[in-house]
Amino acid sequence: MTGSSVNEERLLGRLRELGSIGRDKDGRLVRLAASDADKHGRDRLIAWMQEAGLDVAVDRIGNIFGIWAPIQADDTAKPLMLGSHIDTVINAGVFDGCYGVLSGLEVVETLKSEGFNPNRPIAIAAFTNEEGVRYAPDMMGSLVHVGGLDVDEALATVGTDGSVLGEELARIGYAGPQEPGFLQPHAYIELHIEQGPILEREETPVGAVENLQGISWQRVTIEGDANHAGTTPISLRRDAGLAAARVITFVRDRATASNTPTVATVGCMEFEPNAINVIPSKATFTVDLRDPDEEKLLAEEAALSTYLDTVADDEQVTITTKRLARFQPVTFDSGIVAAVVEAATARGLKSKRMTSGAGHDAQMIARIAPSGMIFVPSIGGISHNPKEFTPNTDLVAGANVLLDVVRNLTAPEN
Ligand code: HGY
Ligand code: MN
Ligand code: MN
Repeated sequence: MTGSSVNEERLLGRLRELGSIGRDKDGRLVRLAASDADKHGRDRLIAWMQEAGLDVAVDRIGNIFGIWAPIQADDTAKPLMLGSHIDTVINAGVFDGCYGVLSGLEVVETLKSEGFNPNRPIAIAAFTNEEGVRYAPDMMGSLVHVGGLDVDEALATVGTDGSVLGEELARIGYAGPQEPGFLQPHAYIELHIEQGPILEREETPVGAVENLQGISWQRVTIEGDANHAGTTPISLRRDAGLAAARVITFVRDRATASNTPTVATVGCMEFEPNAINVIPSKATFTVDLRDPDEEKLLAEEAALSTYLDTVADDEQVTITTKRLARFQPVTFDSGIVAAVVEAATARGLKSKRMTSGAGHDAQMIARIAPSGMIFVPSIGGISHNPKEFTPNTDLVAGANVLLDVVRNLTAPEN
């Protein structure tokens, strides 16, 4: 059932405005979890939610919920939840996460404006720290929401800058009163940019996401000996930098050789003392491994662990690891996937059933409720980069598909 469409000026205008909040001195978009920039983005979102007449609630991990509980037969029913996140990576694009939160809000405002009366409340969620850049793991707010991480343990997390998450949330005024999980969803739908090349390449405006791959994050610390770059013979070196380089090429070679879509990324790297003429005494870096198949991901983790032992022995260094995140692959609700395909088709939009390469809050919420995702194309497949771009036509089409899915799932007669 299609009906009205979203107010595209309002949606696109808010995306632009939220995308302008949290620019650093170089103009980069950096709205890291629980930072001042994150506060400003949160404040703006809550103002929009309040203008829309939603009840706003914040829980102890800072998750924000805008709740539309119209007077109806059973306004105590579990809500249909829409949402995503508004924290960003470093030098981010403007669509990742924000598009799903603002589209959810837009859907509610459109339904309210047409006098639609859903058969259950509808809640818009903005989960804390989805990106995990400042505090690991990623998807932290939604993980706490589903009971996968104790809230006090999460609040005690020490960030890459030495800050403590709970203190920062209190400082920015988002250490909310609600206990995490106070709002259990009936179902959850997340609209998100694909962040990959498939939909654009296949000239398909809508992705009906069937599953999401597993994620393994770990920090690796390699310790050797600082020594003189000029006088130390190669055979006498305990070179932490060289050892790190061997690990980086190892994980890439394994992913390249894999017969499944394994991916491997070393995104952070620090050397000590980090001097041009000193053999590094210490290398600290992160390894991000992903695969849609859990057995394969376990095999990749085991292969890396064995290789670390080999490198430690070859290079006479010591290697320690710390797990930062580990999420198994999830399969989304087939009924929601079908509803997405049906809604796209009803609007004359081609859709594709697909896997998500990126992690999302839906991966966590799927543990407690039927969940699904809708993707729209990312031009060039680029994301986590200011060049991230999705044309307005695709942004509006995705929001209208979400609108129709929500309308169908909460129609009074259902
Ligand atoms: O890492 C991810 O896939 C997500 O952007 N947090
Ligand atoms: Mn995201
Ligand atoms: Mn992201």
